[in-house]
Amino acid sequence: MSAQGQSPVGLEAVGSVAVHTFAARHHIQSTTTTAHQSMDGHHVNAMAGDRGGRDSAPLADYEDVPEGHFYDPDAEYEPDPEYAATLAPDAARQRRERIGPTGRPLPYFPIPGPLTDHGPAKIIAMCNQKGGVGKTTSTINLGAALAEYGRRVLLVDFDPQGALSVGLGVNPMELDLTVYNLLMERGMQADEVLLKTAVPNMDLLPSNIDLSAAEVQLVSEVARESTLQRALKPLMADYDYIVIDCQPSLGLLTVNALTAAHKVIVPLECEFFALRGVALLTETIEKVQERLNPELELDGILATMYDSRTVHSREVLARVVEAFDDHVYHTVIGRTVRFPETTVAGEPITTYASNSVGAAAYRQLAREVLARCHAE
Ligand SMILES: Nc1ncnc2c1ncn2[C@@H]1O[C@H](COP(=O)(O)OP(=O)(O)OP(=O)(O)O)[C@@H](O)[C@H]1O
Ligand SMILES: [Mg+2]
Repeated sequence: MSAQGQSPVGLEAVGSVAVHTFAARHHIQSTTTTAHQSMDGHHVNAMAGDRGGRDSAPLADYEDVPEGHFYDPDAEYEPDPEYAATLAPDAARQRRERIGPTGRPLPYFPIPGPLTDHGPAKIIAMCNQKGGVGKTTSTINLGAALAEYGRRVLLVDFDPQGALSVGLGVNPMELDLTVYNLLMERGMQADEVLLKTAVPNMDLLPSNIDLSAAEVQLVSEVARESTLQRALKPLMADYDYIVIDCQPSLGLLTVNALTAAHKVIVPLECEFFALRGVALLTETIEKVQERLNPELELDGILATMYDSRTVHSREVLARVVEAFDDHVYHTVIGRTVRFPETTVAGEPITTYASNSVGAAAYRQLAREVLARCHAE
């Protein structure tokens, strides 16, 4: 009765690779209860009903979902009253009936209280060697949402393409000093490179194509993997969160980001090949953990570009939850044209379309990330 066993062949196979390489090492019990089944085998999530990969009638069971029983991340209309309810949630009601898009009950993530003092920073690397999965979008918007909650945030553009800088309205070609100078020139002070963004509490270490030279030049450096870590050290006291936007590769720059980080967030696009390559990524994370940075841990897998109306998106999400279990954030980012629009506007969605579903989703992610940090 579950979607298990009926899914498209490729998806099943790809999913199980990740189960082997990740779950086996971490002793995760991922096979006993699938993400969308309750203990007695009944579906607890209407969204994960019996669809078994049948793409012919993708909207059928979607329309049957009782109102208020799930969070619909793709609702385009705004303001979205259903989602807005989660911003000031009735905790009892949420505990009673809200099943999140991952098929698990959606916990209540409290609105964080104000901070009286700041730092030392938790460093988060936004990492996936697959391109176009939402790393940069998630860095900007998670950062902006954390800043809205009064956290001091530094975003590090660690991709020579400079997409994070562009997304915050900076023209990378016009920059004289970038994160490249901070890495490669001894004596360079971070505040010479730092830019204030239009979002209060949020600063940026920008980058541009110069950074691509660092990948080559660092090879001959002593302790080349910890160059970024050394560069960020003096900044840690000033910030609560430092979020590093990695480039889509597992090269030396990404290893630098992982060596500097306490936590990794892996955005995964909800599409067919989402899990391909994740085994290699978790292997790289483990190697860095063993050899360079024992503090490093995988904070979570973030499902992005999710479209609950398609069987395909729901299937992929179910596989991801099956493979990574509690590592998958309850918050799921829906697919909406609002995100490409924000890149053109050069600002986060939290200011560009403050009442939109996308803004609400990243605010919820910020609360979830904060809740995970506080749970430690
Ligand atoms: N939730 C979403 N819905 C729709 N479009 C999205 C969403 N998230 C990101 N996008 C768009 O998808 C594209 C890729 O996103 P983004 O640049 O964040 O990915 P990336 O992983 O940083 O890519 P790269 O690997 O090239 O650095 C962008 O055009 C972005 O606007
Ligand atoms: Mg990017």
